[in-house]
Amino acid sequence: MKTFESSRAMERLPSQFFAKLVKKVNEVKRHHDDVINLGQGNPDQPTPAHIVEKLKEAADNPMHHKYAPFAGHTFLKEAVAEYYHREYGVEIDAQTEVAVLGGAKTGLIELSQCLLDPEDLALVPDPGYPDYWSGVELAGAKMHMMPLLQELDFHPDFTTLKEETLEQAKLMFLNYPNNPTGAIATPALFQDAIELGQKHDLCIVHDFAYGAIGFEGKKPLSFLQLKGAKDVGVEVMTLSKTYNMAGWRVGFVVGNKSVVSAIEKLQDHLFCSIFGGIQEAAAHALLSDQQCVEDLVATYEARRNVLVEAAHKAGWEAEAPLGSFFAWFPVPNGYTSEEFADILLKEARVVVAPGVGFGKYGEGYVRIGLLADEDTLREAMERIGALRLFDK
Ligand SMILES: Cc1ncc(COP(=O)(O)O)c(C=O)c1O
Repeated sequence: MKTFESSRAMERLPSQFFAKLVKKVNEVKRHHDDVINLGQGNPDQPTPAHIVEKLKEAADNPMHHKYAPFAGHTFLKEAVAEYYHREYGVEIDAQTEVAVLGGAKTGLIELSQCLLDPEDLALVPDPGYPDYWSGVELAGAKMHMMPLLQELDFHPDFTTLKEETLEQAKLMFLNYPNNPTGAIATPALFQDAIELGQKHDLCIVHDFAYGAIGFEGKKPLSFLQLKGAKDVGVEVMTLSKTYNMAGWRVGFVVGNKSVVSAIEKLQDHLFCSIFGGIQEAAAHALLSDQQCVEDLVATYEARRNVLVEAAHKAGWEAEAPLGSFFAWFPVPNGYTSEEFADILLKEARVVVAPGVGFGKYGEGYVRIGLLADEDTLREAMERIGALRLFDK
């Protein structure tokens, strides 16, 4: 059998840091049945029943057994426009300002294909969601990392970007509520990004995957709420986290018409949109009673409070996240994030994600998912506390 060489684009794709973690976890699991996995980002609860019911009903509709319209059903785009109007007071043109995605992950990769030529520059947050890197690498473009520092509330400092970097850059990724730091955006951050976009012909891509998950009564800002946002950018949203629909694969790019139309052109060549039944259930999720979302946010906030309190009890000086379902805790002196995560896995059988997997500036932290019930989170912190790694 011949072994074919991969294309250069495939070779540029970074290897998945977290695949290594999964391997280590599986090895420990072979010998222990009490591993607590807080290292992943997979919602732990089921999709609300009314959405599942809608899918079951829709599956019987022969219309959905045919190809869906290439760019997705109009009723779904209209539901997205209505959602933005209801939730954020933002006017969206359903036909020209919404593209339907097979999940935000796919959309984020597609955006780089649509906007970047080889040698172009993308501004990427560090630490950040690793799929930004994959899209940029596939496009053969270059990355300029924007450090997210705790002392700046994990916002990039645009004043450190050199003029020549800004001239070369075509695309900037932002993501709030932020994975992995749990930070939230301010209007000033988005306004500054819009000004940069206007001045330097830079497309701002705001990843709003955790848009529904804000704590302490603060609803996270949509990038599109800011004046001029649509002139220079798009927001990527997804049903994965808001409605526990990660397995359904449905998301949207919303905003700038030229970007929406480029995504739709690319997708015309790749897909015939997503299954129509899922589109119907997705529209139903967006338009029906949002109590399920409120309940979900309350659940994550209660877990957050339990986790942080238990961490403090264990001597871990950690701050509570303001949004997303992740906590970003500092690693005690003397360990790298990977060494620390390895100790927690081997000695406490608790899985956390080493911060370095999200970029160089993630070193010194671990990410902990709020994706287990309160008792499990408490137990995880008790086991970690018993290791006495935080004793001064
Ligand atoms: C920041 C961020 N963006 C995008 C995604 C992908 O979401 P989707 O399930 O819609 O592909 C994730 C998923 O973990 C994420 O954390």
